[in-house]
Amino acid sequence: MRLVFIGPPGAGKGTQCKRLVEYLNIPHLSTGEMLRSVKKQETALSRWVASYIDAGKLAPDHLVMRIVSQKLQSDECRNGALFDGFPRTIIQAQLLDDHLAEMGLKLDMALELKVQEEELIQRLLKRAEIDGRADDNYETIRERIHVFNTQTAPLTEYYAKQGKLETVDGMQSPEDVFEDIKRCVSRRRPT
Ligand code: AP5
Ligand code: MG
Repeated sequence: MRLVFIGPPGAGKGTQCKRLVEYLNIPHLSTGEMLRSVKKQETALSRWVASYIDAGKLAPDHLVMRIVSQKLQSDECRNGALFDGFPRTIIQAQLLDDHLAEMGLKLDMALELKVQEEELIQRLLKRAEIDGRADDNYETIRERIHVFNTQTAPLTEYYAKQGKLETVDGMQSPEDVFEDIKRCVSRRRPT
């Protein structure tokens, strides 16, 4: 199964993906994690990537797509993949569709996690105290939410038109969110 998770920062994409990778036994492709690991290296590329992440802006589409397509070619992705935080723009969604089509593959579902803005901010400020992620500060959180609303939210319509969209209420407890996600998965699982 191949599915993408769409949700604003703090919606619970990472939290639910951890559960789903075990449940479906497919690899977890988080572009945020991939870009943070590039950021850790001491190179010109890493400083360039950091300038986007630390400002809460999106990294360029073609850079992200290059990283994802390398992963997709690998053996571990043969039987499926769980995309967390990718695609994030219409261009990325089109590039992903094209890339999968070239490989004779397709997405089975786009899963949207819906959470109110005030709750997102509270969750991320709390996570800042535990994980210390550089972009979990009030100003950057507000920017990430703005970027989501303007550049990523239109993806729900893109996937709705393809008949692939499922929406889950992310305001519930993580356990209840996961139960809803499992119901969506069982409806969409390829036979
Ligand atoms: P990314 O790493 O994807 O971050 P994000 O989208 O901002 O989302 P988060 O990881 O902050 O939130 P999440 O939805 O995973 O929530 P989580 O489960 O952790 O991207 C970071 C940056 O990288 C971007 O800003 C951009 O610069 C760049 N980037 C990444 N992908 C890109 C792309 N495709 N193109 C261009 N640039 C890209 O949960 C959050 C907190 O809430 C946790 O503490 C958790 O314990 C808690 N929580 C979770 N669920 C619940 C619940 N149900 N109830 C209560 N608390 C909960
Ligand atoms: Mg995440």
